[in-house]
Amino acid sequence: MKVALKIYRFNPETDKEPHYDTFKIEANLNDRILDCLNKIRWEQDSSLAYRMSCAHGICGSDAVSINGTPALACQKLVKDYDYTQELLIEPLKYFPIIKDLTVDIEPFFQRIKVINPNFQLHAPVNPAEKERLQSIEERSKIDDAVKCILCGCCVAACPVILEQEPKFIGPAAILRAQKYIFDSRRNDSKERMQIIEKPYGIWSCKSYYMCTIVCPKKIKVTEEILKTKKKIIAELHPKTV
Ligand code: SF4
Ligand code: FES
Repeated sequence: MKVALKIYRFNPETDKEPHYDTFKIEANLNDRILDCLNKIRWEQDSSLAYRMSCAHGICGSDAVSINGTPALACQKLVKDYDYTQELLIEPLKYFPIIKDLTVDIEPFFQRIKVINPNFQLHAPVNPAEKERLQSIEERSKIDDAVKCILCGCCVAACPVILEQEPKFIGPAAILRAQKYIFDSRRNDSKERMQIIEKPYGIWSCKSYYMCTIVCPKKIKVTEEILKTKKKIIAELHPKTV
């Protein structure tokens, strides 16, 4: 069957303004949106720019906006959408555009750096065990956060970042901090809670749940943020409870 994709185009070297090109391709219901983009690039327009690497939902590099919602092009199938209508493919919102669907992801990594991911204070190793062992229950507290592939979909869907406080560090950075704060093998949770309490940090989150809705790894991002807020109040501000 024929499927039409209306794709955002912008080449800063030649274009003054962005525009859209519509491509019609032969596709199957189970084809991924990434397959469609590849087909366009291989068969119709080799100048179409987009990122991809693993093609299996692992690397997070092919996040784009599909019909207005951020998603991984390799995870979404043609049949996930109303393919009788044009599919609208655009770059992730908020990020500076490099070319077509390729965005500069640096503002995303700057947010992760705010929470100081390299700063580590580990709990001492138990000499009898020689390793920092974790029970299943302890590990379950960070199960969700370790699944994050840093794709940026949550940032591109966050109403706080898009409409209210562009400097907000965003869901993925808080989720990364949550991983450190709740990790039983570390003893720097207090310092980390103080870091994400800074202006534009965790208290800027208004729990819109958009991060949870769009996360391709089905991480309960908003719930993890709420758990972290509760821990901060209980441990750093107990008198306010
Ligand atoms: Fe992507 Fe989900 Fe991680 Fe956000 S939390 S960067 S949407 S995997
Ligand atoms: Fe790696 Fe889609 S190409 S997640």
